[in-house]
Amino acid sequence: MLSLPSELSARVEAVAGIDAELRPATRPQFGHYQTNVALRLANSSGRPPREVAAELVGRIDLADLCEPLEVAGPGFINLRIRSDVLARVASEVLADPRAGISLAETPATVVVDYSSPNVAKQMHVGHLRSTIIGDCFTRVLRAQGHTAIPQNHIGDWGRQFGMLVEEILDEQLDASALDLAGAEALYQRANARLKSSEEFADRARERVVKLQAGDAETRRIWQQLIDVSLAGFNATYARMNVLLTDADLAGESIYNADLPVVAADLEDRGIAVVDDGALVVFVEGSTTPAIIRNAAGGYGYTCTDLAAIRHRVGDLAANRLVYVVGNPQEFHFAQVFAVARRAGYLPDDVAAEFVGFGQVLGADGKKFSTREGTAVTLNSLLDEAEEHAAPAIALAAIKYADLSSGLQKDYSFDVERMVATTGDTGPYLQYAHARANQILRKAEAEGISYDTITVLAEPAEQNVALLLSRFGEVVDAVGATLQPHRLCGYLYELASALSVFYEQCPVLKSDGDVRASRLALCAATRKVLASGLDLLGIEAPERM
Ligand code: ARG
Repeated sequence: MLSLPSELSARVEAVAGIDAELRPATRPQFGHYQTNVALRLANSSGRPPREVAAELVGRIDLADLCEPLEVAGPGFINLRIRSDVLARVASEVLADPRAGISLAETPATVVVDYSSPNVAKQMHVGHLRSTIIGDCFTRVLRAQGHTAIPQNHIGDWGRQFGMLVEEILDEQLDASALDLAGAEALYQRANARLKSSEEFADRARERVVKLQAGDAETRRIWQQLIDVSLAGFNATYARMNVLLTDADLAGESIYNADLPVVAADLEDRGIAVVDDGALVVFVEGSTTPAIIRNAAGGYGYTCTDLAAIRHRVGDLAANRLVYVVGNPQEFHFAQVFAVARRAGYLPDDVAAEFVGFGQVLGADGKKFSTREGTAVTLNSLLDEAEEHAAPAIALAAIKYADLSSGLQKDYSFDVERMVATTGDTGPYLQYAHARANQILRKAEAEGISYDTITVLAEPAEQNVALLLSRFGEVVDAVGATLQPHRLCGYLYELASALSVFYEQCPVLKSDGDVRASRLALCAATRKVLASGLDLLGIEAPERM
């Protein structure tokens, strides 16, 4: 498939000798794309920019794709794509099973660490964001032909299991009969006793040692806690329609045996040093060292993440590591990456990216909590959205709200705004898709056939076609930058352009070639909307 923006850039660059920096035009009268090459060349040569622009326009060979190039303002060059070319490209999108998404030239293996909730605790809003965002990355990377390997780094190991197991034994509970909410209540009770009873705290500590030593009864109860938690997580994943399966589970516990190996390796090579009884690595630019093993001999979160990097690079052969975790953990990952680079666990040709995200706030813009002041669970958010809309629409509302503003920003969980079918929302995009579908269904019922886009006389239809030609490029940008809001913004623009097109260009009420061409344009748009929504993890219902 012809990629218009890259072809245009290449032709400009062949003559100008510098990066075209092609930008979509800001106004229709400036054409479709604009480049400032002439201004930059004039700047370095001292010649008048408009003169440089006029000269370039005479030499750039684009007659087969564009209307005659124009010089504008201080020396911009405006490009307007010929409508027959737009028609051809939009038809290619319609015919292409990939809707114009291009396959990566060098497919990579990308590990995406996301969701990662903790055993015996319900998933909270932070896990909601991580799950939605990570799932979108996995979908986009796979669509580009990369191998995306999700890793659900659940918190299934650590000191908390000492108190949990002791509490279960004291209460003579059958842990396998708990559900996730019950396990969480147990967690609270155990935690309260840990704080109030020295004797309990001592037993909890001893229990951690037994867990690590592989004591059979301790391990059995620990496994029961994991099983009931996983059942709860999986129920939520099913409800959220995400890709994660049990095959993606790679909890902290699987690295257990590697932890002393990592510590010894770092110590032997002089990368880690003993400081106040703890084994630590001092990382350049920070006075807080990374703790590999604490003074009591325990390995924690940092050492586990180092072992995980060795596994992901060494065993999974990843070329790129992506971590979707809330902003407060940014420092932790900066430290882990620095230590892993220094130790060679993370070679220079393997990228490691921390993708943080902001908090979900209440509709009032304040910290989100229940009336009782406790953290809001993910399931209660889904329940709330489903009070306002059917499940597929409620889910679209939540996912879109999560992905459509910059990930770093906090956003307000304002259900009424999120589920609206007007404005920049998930349901609006679903509606645009369903409406295109309705028109096409009607045409089919009336026996009207269509196949390619041939006539694009009206600016409103040209604009839709132009946007369709950009889909592939937008998906590439999301894969490279991991910024899903770019895809959301694009789809919103496309849906809006489609609605202007309906207003200005009759579809079923026109005749002949024009009608067939407009129907094909609707079909191509429906296809791109469905494909784009799918990349966001959002269903595109046929009817709404
Ligand atoms: N379980 C952690 C939490 O809930 C998130 C884990 C993120 N991934 C990782 N490799 N550390 O905060």
